[in-house]
Amino acid sequence: MERQIPKTLIIGIAVTVFAIILIYLFTKFPGGSQGISTGTETVSYGGSDKCASCHRRVTPAIVTQFAGSTMAKAGVKCVDCHVVEKNNPLGKEHEGFFITTTPTPKNCAKCHPAETKQFDHSRHGAPAWIALNGLADFTPEQKKSIDRIPEANRGPNGIITATRNSLFDIEGPSVTPAACETCHSIGKPNKDGSIGNCNKCHLRHEFKLEQVRKPEICGQCHLGPDHPQAEIYEESAHGVMYQTDGEKWNWSQKPGRLTVSDMPAPTCATCHMSGFGSQGTTHDVGERLSKFLFAAVTTDRPNNIEGREAMKAICANCHSGPFIDNFYSRADSVTSFVNKKVQEATGIINGLVKDGIITSKPFENQISFTAFDLWHYYGRTAKFGAYMQGADYVQWHGVYPLLKELNKLKEEAQQLRLRHKRGARP
Ligand code: HEC
Ligand code: HEC
Ligand code: HEC
Ligand code: HEC
Ligand code: HEC
Ligand code: HEC
Ligand code: HEC
Ligand code: HEC
Repeated sequence: MERQIPKTLIIGIAVTVFAIILIYLFTKFPGGSQGISTGTETVSYGGSDKCASCHRRVTPAIVTQFAGSTMAKAGVKCVDCHVVEKNNPLGKEHEGFFITTTPTPKNCAKCHPAETKQFDHSRHGAPAWIALNGLADFTPEQKKSIDRIPEANRGPNGIITATRNSLFDIEGPSVTPAACETCHSIGKPNKDGSIGNCNKCHLRHEFKLEQVRKPEICGQCHLGPDHPQAEIYEESAHGVMYQTDGEKWNWSQKPGRLTVSDMPAPTCATCHMSGFGSQGTTHDVGERLSKFLFAAVTTDRPNNIEGREAMKAICANCHSGPFIDNFYSRADSVTSFVNKKVQEATGIINGLVKDGIITSKPFENQISFTAFDLWHYYGRTAKFGAYMQGADYVQWHGVYPLLKELNKLKEEAQQLRLRHKRGARP
């Protein structure tokens, strides 16, 4: 009995001394060959990481953020994303390494080839940049990859020329880098041959699933009068559940394992990207869509049937078949209504051009702005509202201003015809 007390004391002292030595070693040699101490936790990178040991002093936030990520825990190191081959045009010498400061999908593709391929196959890839500047910035090799995107070959002239928005040229480089390009660079071609930027959603350096599964990440770009998906979601029952209960959901569930028990209502990612129930994870955001809603006049997509089935399979985790079918047929009928009104407006504009009253160049006369607002704001908004449960967006931000704008357009056309009769030039 008497002897046991000193024994525990000796063990206690030994443990304390050992701990002090450990703490000393970690503060003296941060990021040494065994791992890096971030202050909150120690993460082993499984070998020497010269970048982290120096950057712990230079950019401590970056090291701490990355150290907490799933990737760091799986042994991924700074060099894996940042060190590139000597012939990489984005590379430069840095402390004896050849690194890039802005890793591209080419760097991620080394370990995530499937996600990169799906991304490249989507409108988040090349089409997003083509929408601004056509094909001018793409190499012949990159152009070949565009042909494999089903959404890139829509309509008589293809997506590439048919819908390119001439505002990019009108506004020019004093505006567009802070405007169009901030969003559309998600698909900008890179000098290393790859396309786009994973980092637009996977903000560095935490690379957390929670961040990309929440709607705020999509709302960076998918908002405003021309594509108010974030606002519509906020108004929907799904969005209300997210806002009221979201903090209790299991955001870090492993990819492909998400179910209703992790989140009782969907976010943008659940419907458009996540593996959920029978559907696998996808980075091709067109995979579950059936219509070209962003277009002035909506038509079916090439993968119309499969796309709709895939999305319905997501809904089916939580809703019955008849409920979903009824929902889709209501949304389809809003789309037909909008199509008819937009076609009517287009007919009026085409008539004015044909009769030499206005030129066909967009944004040269007031009526061309009226026509643009009509489909680009109100028509689209009504359609998005219908498919994503935003009644107010279908009605008061959509169909009502659409009707009002059509009336205005008719009056403007009449005025132009009268002026033309009196001899005014276009
Ligand atoms: C001996 C110290 C040291 C080592 C080793 C080191 N760096 Fe750096 N790094 C720096 C310093 C200093 C800066 C400049 C920071 C500043 O200006 O704020 C820097 C800057 C950077 C930048 C930003 C450069 C820019 O132009 O914006 C990146 C990216 C970077 N380092 C990555 C790495 C990677 C990856 C490694 C390992 C392959 C590495 N570093 C190794 C010290 C180091
Ligand atoms: C999974 C890939 C990945 C890993 C691993 C990674 N980075 Fe980065 N890092 C990126 C990306 C992507 C960017 C570009 C961010 C951007 O374009 O704004 C970046 C940017 C940087 C920058 C420049 C940031 C700035 O604002 O100036 C530094 C410095 C940097 N990383 C250091 C590190 C260090 C140190 C490590 C290891 C602890 C590391 N990175 C690990 C992907 C990675
Ligand atoms: C050297 C290989 C490697 C590179 C390069 C790499 N990753 Fe990873 N990544 C991994 C591994 C390993 C995992 C962990 C897989 C697991 O544990 O499920 C992972 C996981 C992820 C996850 C899921 C995180 C989570 O919490 O489940 C994301 C997101 C991710 N990587 C994005 C990227 C992006 C973006 C890039 C490029 C900027 C990149 N990765 C570069 C190997 C890599
Ligand atoms: C806030 C982010 C943001 C800004 C700024 C922005 N866009 Fe977009 N743009 C989007 C999103 C998101 C879509 C996708 C809409 C959809 O499919 O519902 C889109 C769609 C488009 C489309 C239709 C799709 C296509 O490929 O034909 C064109 C064209 C376009 N944008 C051009 C522009 C131009 C030109 C500018 C600047 C004058 C611009 N955008 C500014 C986010 C933005
Ligand atoms: C539009 C936003 C967005 C972009 C851009 C994006 N991702 Fe993701 N990524 C997501 C979402 C959302 C998830 C989570 C899916 C889920 O809920 O399981 C994810 C998950 C992942 C995962 C883990 C998935 C798995 O199945 O293991 C990896 C790896 C990944 N992304 C890599 C990339 C790479 C590489 C790129 C660029 C080529 C990229 N991502 C671009 C939104 C994006
Ligand atoms: C950095 C800006 C940006 C972010 C962040 C972003 N997107 Fe997009 N998204 C775009 C642009 C730009 C387009 C239209 C591209 C074009 O012009 O063809 C688009 C198109 C889409 C489309 C239509 C695809 C098609 O085939 O018509 C869907 C669906 C979509 N995004 C979903 C999402 C989801 C879900 C998220 C968040 C997880 C997200 N996006 C995050 C910019 C973004
Ligand atoms: C309940 C599921 C669901 C949620 C949540 C959801 N969407 Fe959608 N989304 C849809 C459906 C359904 C369509 C129309 C599908 C079709 O074309 O058949 C659609 C269409 C779109 C489109 C239109 C693409 C085109 O043709 O122009 C974009 C972009 C988009 N969603 C982005 C988002 C964003 C961003 C969020 C979150 C703020 C979001 N969605 C939330 C189901 C959802
Ligand atoms: C993860 C489960 C989940 C998924 C996936 C899901 N929903 Fe929902 N949805 C809900 C919940 C929960 C509610 C709120 C039910 C209530 O009104 O009490 C809801 C509400 C709705 C409502 C409003 C019902 C009402 O009475 O006002 C509509 C419409 C709807 N969902 C359509 C869809 C469609 C279409 C899809 C697929 C594109 C979908 N949902 C995907 C869980 C889900």
